[in-house]
Amino acid sequence: MKRVGILVGRELTFPEALIKSINERGNGETIAEFVKVGGVRLDEPHRYDLIIDRISHEVPFYRGFLKRAALEGTIVVNNPFWWSADDKFFNYALAAKLGVAIPRTVLLPQKAYIEGVTNESLRNLEFPLQWQAIVDYVGLPAMLKPFNGGGWKNVSRVNSLEELWSVYDQTGRLCMTLQEMIQFDHFVRCYCIGQEEVLIMPYDPTKVYLSGEQYVNDPNYLSAELTERITKDILTICRALGYDINTVEFAICDGVPYAIDFMNPAPDADLHSVGEYNHNWVTKAVTDFVFKKLAEPQETRTRYRWDALLNPEPTSAMQSLTAVASAAEQAARTIVPKPVREIPSEIAAGVTAFVSEAADVVSDIINSVVQPESQPQNAKQSAKSTRTSSEAPRNPTPKSNSSRKRKPTSEPPKM
Ligand SMILES: Nc1ncnc2c1ncn2[C@@H]1O[C@H](COP(=O)(O)OP(=O)(O)O)[C@@H](O)[C@H]1O
Ligand SMILES: [Mg+2]
Repeated sequence: MKRVGILVGRELTFPEALIKSINERGNGETIAEFVKVGGVRLDEPHRYDLIIDRISHEVPFYRGFLKRAALEGTIVVNNPFWWSADDKFFNYALAAKLGVAIPRTVLLPQKAYIEGVTNESLRNLEFPLQWQAIVDYVGLPAMLKPFNGGGWKNVSRVNSLEELWSVYDQTGRLCMTLQEMIQFDHFVRCYCIGQEEVLIMPYDPTKVYLSGEQYVNDPNYLSAELTERITKDILTICRALGYDINTVEFAICDGVPYAIDFMNPAPDADLHSVGEYNHNWVTKAVTDFVFKKLAEPQETRTRYRWDALLNPEPTSAMQSLTAVASAAEQAARTIVPKPVREIPSEIAAGVTAFVSEAADVVSDIINSVVQPESQPQNAKQSAKSTRTSSEAPRNPTPKSNSSRKRKPTSEPPKM
């Protein structure tokens, strides 16, 4: 008998649906259940054949338990070793190298550090930071967001250098990135399961996060060309990063899909948030993947080296990052969603119109996530008081790039 464990946080509907679906298909030969774990011994015996991890990014004890379970031969989805090593800025840079369009992005030194880290500890840091040059490169408005994390936490739109300083000064020990804001005309959030199965979900980020209103039903939302390119980008990204459960978000502007968020190894799959169709799709896709993994011959671990843990056994998907399937095969695998729920026809007809406003509206929402304490006119002073902040620039009005035609940071791969 095979045993599958689900490690969860507060979410309800997805883990319950997954356990039910695996148990139904498992027919007593494979059983799924919530993981139970207490003190973990060094020689903890093998208990689960596979664990789906939805929460270890927020509970370090779980991450320690999962790494230990992996050593004992448990397949952990997503790989806890890579997840621990990963960050969003690295991901952007990697994806850009692989030919995916990525908004211009700069990694910023932190505003604050753990106790004991003083100015002397930070002698390698450039001071003052070249704020003006950074803003000139990224353009305004821009998005300030953590290089790690998710759930729309600490994501802000900044419209000026002063606003940037003001918000940055509230970011504490978080390591932040400043990213070009894509004035998108379309936006999609896409599941990718097992580095093979793709579901592209038209998405309206102007609606309240997790409200159930964000997923838009429009089967003709994307052109065939965009669907093909986005599918290829998703597979490229997820195969390069090795995530078996992930979502990739694209802000699309003038026909170019910019990947803006793709480190989501425990993506929202809640029935009430993503809607019935998407929820059922992802439950089935994960169930299929679980049974596929369980059916693969498991190597007996003989190599106790980090690389064996990062990449435990080759699967067909991982053998070649460049092995993107043919367009026809991709088209067959890629699903554009069926109705998520009934939506008024004027909304369905006006999708294009309202998403053109989306960038501004979402920014307002996002602005409300982080409320700078100080007003922009005080920001210069506030920034000057930090070690990494610069003097006010000679020209305090940075050049805006919002109106010029955007150029991807990299060209699509020549294949
Ligand atoms: N570069 C960007 N251009 C336009 N909108 C963005 C950009 N980055 C983030 N956003 C908006 O902010 C939301 C949250 O940012 P995201 O990078 O997805 O962080 P999280 O991991 O917290 O979901 C996105 O869904 C999108 O609506
Ligand atoms: Mg996101």
